[in-house]
Amino acid sequence: MSWKTVRLDWDEDVATLTVDRPDALNALNVATLEAMGEAITEAADEDARALVVTGAGDDAFIAGADIAYMQDLSTTEGQEWGELGHDVADALEAFPAPTIAAVNGYAFGGGCEMAIACDLRVAAESAVIGNTEIDLGIIPGWGATQRLPELVGDETARRMIFLGERLDAESAAQAGLFGEVVSDEDLEDAVSELASRIAEKPAVAMRAAKQALNQRSEGSQTSGLAYEQRAFASLFGTPDQREGMSAFVEGREPEFE
Ligand code: COA
Repeated sequence: MSWKTVRLDWDEDVATLTVDRPDALNALNVATLEAMGEAITEAADEDARALVVTGAGDDAFIAGADIAYMQDLSTTEGQEWGELGHDVADALEAFPAPTIAAVNGYAFGGGCEMAIACDLRVAAESAVIGNTEIDLGIIPGWGATQRLPELVGDETARRMIFLGERLDAESAAQAGLFGEVVSDEDLEDAVSELASRIAEKPAVAMRAAKQALNQRSEGSQTSGLAYEQRAFASLFGTPDQREGMSAFVEGREPEFE
């Protein structure tokens, strides 16, 4: 299939999903999320032995959920929006083969959440990552309240989410967010080599290894994700959400209550 803002390319058994909306720094809108979901299904149906996720252009992996779209959402629409993002992040997490985020630039909010739903993360040295939702008057709604502490530990996750910290690649690697940081020029080759090494391993055992690792947080994560979705939706329509997102769209500093 082909989509307007998502590409799926193949190199032998390795599939690469590229979010291709560089004019908006690859921010995720409804059509892009739906396309990501379809591309992930296609890659699984075609038996990819590794799936790479990245962003088009030199500046961004995914600069987050589309703020202009979110600006006027009601609570009910926020619930649907949260579900759509959860579905894509869950599909990455449940993808039968290992997934690798090639973080080639900004990865904020929903972009950070897509990266941490992948099994592994390789970053370019110019990458910057964070869960910045607090500054928009909302909370992470696509999985970070559950997945981020697993990855970086509770204190660091709380600092990142409470303060909306934007971490450079080195700091993020030290925090445990990135497994590897390489020069911007080397990112594609480094990810391709890692994906090929994974793709050469026995596929059935690889699938079992991933499923077994995913069991670790299964029960508690499922109820945590449901809670996150309700809390995320409940913030749409609050004065701080309206102000935070209007301020971004209008290019000014927000004034919260
Ligand atoms: N949603 C919608 N549009 C976004 C976006 C987002 N999350 N992030 C960037 N864009 C758009 C900008 O509105 C701008 O569009 P325009 O050219 O039509 O005005 C374009 O992408 C380029 O962004 P700009 O802010 O001009 O680039 P910059 O280099 O000065 O700053 C960022 C880049 C990533 C630091 C800045 O765009 C930013 O902070 N984005 C929001 C990040 C965020 O909070 N994400 C979490 C959302 S849940």
